[in-house]
Amino acid sequence: MRLDPESAIPPREPESLPTSRLRLIEPLTHVEMPSFEDEVRAGLKDRPRSLPCRFFYDEVGSKIFEEICDLDEYYLTRVERSILVSRAMDIARAVPFGSSLVELGSGSAEKTRLLIDALLARQGALRFVPIDISRSALVESSQALLLDHPTLDIVAICAEYDSGLAALDGAAHTPRLILWLGSSVGNLHKPQAADFLSRVRDKMGAKDRLLIGIDLRKERTVLERAYDDAQGVTARFNKNLLTRVNRELGGNFDLSGFRFRAHYDEVSGAVESSLVSLRDQEVDVAALSLQAAFSEGETIHTENSYKYSLDEIDTLAERSGMQSETRWLDDGERYSLNLFCPC
Ligand code: AVI
Repeated sequence: MRLDPESAIPPREPESLPTSRLRLIEPLTHVEMPSFEDEVRAGLKDRPRSLPCRFFYDEVGSKIFEEICDLDEYYLTRVERSILVSRAMDIARAVPFGSSLVELGSGSAEKTRLLIDALLARQGALRFVPIDISRSALVESSQALLLDHPTLDIVAICAEYDSGLAALDGAAHTPRLILWLGSSVGNLHKPQAADFLSRVRDKMGAKDRLLIGIDLRKERTVLERAYDDAQGVTARFNKNLLTRVNRELGGNFDLSGFRFRAHYDEVSGAVESSLVSLRDQEVDVAALSLQAAFSEGETIHTENSYKYSLDEIDTLAERSGMQSETRWLDDGERYSLNLFCPC
């Protein structure tokens, strides 16, 4: 782990920023992830073809995702926020006094503020440790939080989740409340979800807790509307993957030659997103020396968003070496916040 020497964080307003309460860590050792190039090569050669959803979030994709979160149909963000609005104090009381707060994929930390306020009201002071791959999002949100909370201090870790977790010991004292919001666990297949949560569990002591947001199973129409909205924002989000291939790898995808589809598989509980070729067509990706011949109706799978029943959430906790201790639902029982403890 390295304390970034040149990251005396550039002040937004000189003199007024509490940068002494902000430390940025950029771990030197990284858990290697396959590159965009490698994943596109493998995914376009595979049958059915696929492109992984972790590449949605370039600058354009991240902005489109913010638009998705504001859509009426995409209830997840709104409902998760409503649970935090009404339950943040209960959550703060459910974790050991003096806990530090760690957040996986904090982004703008907008919803996290509700929990930070509640923990500060209970404890008086708080160490917040956001882990995010975007340095600019970390710096911006940390500076805004520090200006509003004089007894907060932040150690921000700029890294992918696994590398960030490896750097946790020097950053967050125990007991810790680890936060993973947004139903991001739903983008992992169920065995991978349990594997990842087991790695989180390995970092937890007996008094640490994980608060995880998980979207619940519900009627097909609601789910398919949430993932294929009337304005076509989610379609644009998915097609941005093709734009990335064109721009970054010299591809010549014709975006109008594909339509977006979201299908809910009631058996697995996944909303499966894909791009469907509207005709027989050939696509070249110059940087990969790859030609892909698509037949009409052929798909490129882009994302799974798994929905869980309450029993499935308990099973996920057990398979990860944890136990579901407390759970908060919204009034319509669409979404859950779950407090897992190690066992
Ligand atoms: C980030 N993730 C939890 C979102 C989801 O609901 O699967 C991504 C998303 N894809 C389409 N809409 C939102």
